[in-house]
Order: sequence, then structure tokens, then C-alpha cells
Amino acid sequence: MERLCTLDDIPDGGSKGALPGSRGRDQVLLVRQGGRVYGYVNNCPHYDRAPLGWKKDEFLNGAKDRIMCSAHGALFRIEDGTCEIGPCLGQALIPIRITVEGGQVFGEI
Ligand code: FES
Repeated sequence: MERLCTLDDIPDGGSKGALPGSRGRDQVLLVRQGGRVYGYVNNCPHYDRAPLGWKKDEFLNGAKDRIMCSAHGALFRIEDGTCEIGPCLGQALIPIRITVEGGQVFGEI
């Protein structure tokens, strides 16, 4: 398990990137809903593993009820990462098992 950030680092109802990789690209995206955090690999299944965020730490659509890919607008369910609208319909983001303990967020990378 790798420590990714604190729970307070993620706005409730919002998102955050974690684990910066090459060229500063975050390898993981996190979405918080209350005390629950969902984590996915920051690769869109549609095209060449493109990163999803449209700017630093912003991975959600305007309504904040779906994860959105900035490249071609695919929308993914927060709960399981399945694409509901877009060119990769039916495909899914790769989930990361997340544990929140003592206000810290850990991921099984
Ligand atoms: S790369 Fe994500 S929708 Fe095309």
C-alpha cells in the first residue's frame, strides 16, 4: 500500500491527482465522496492511454457526478469507472484499491 495523500487534500465531492510520474503527469486520479475515496489509473481506455484531467486535480464533469476525459469527453461512473457516454462506451478505467485510515489515503498500486 502506498500513501497517496491525506483525505483533506481531496475536496469532498471533488477530485485530485496523485503519484506524479514522468513529465509531472499524475499516475492516479482520486475522487472523494464524504469519507469514501475512489481511485483509478489516470489512463483513458479510448486512446493511447491518454491522461484524463483537463487541468491539475480536475477530473470531473461540470455536474461533478462523472469522471470526464478531457480529450474526447468520455464520461465514466465514479463508483466503478465504467464509460457510460463516449467513444469507449462499455470499457472502464482501471480501479485502484483505496483504503482511508487515520485521515490518510493509501492505494494498492
Ligand atoms: S482519449 Fe479519452 S475519450 Fe478519447
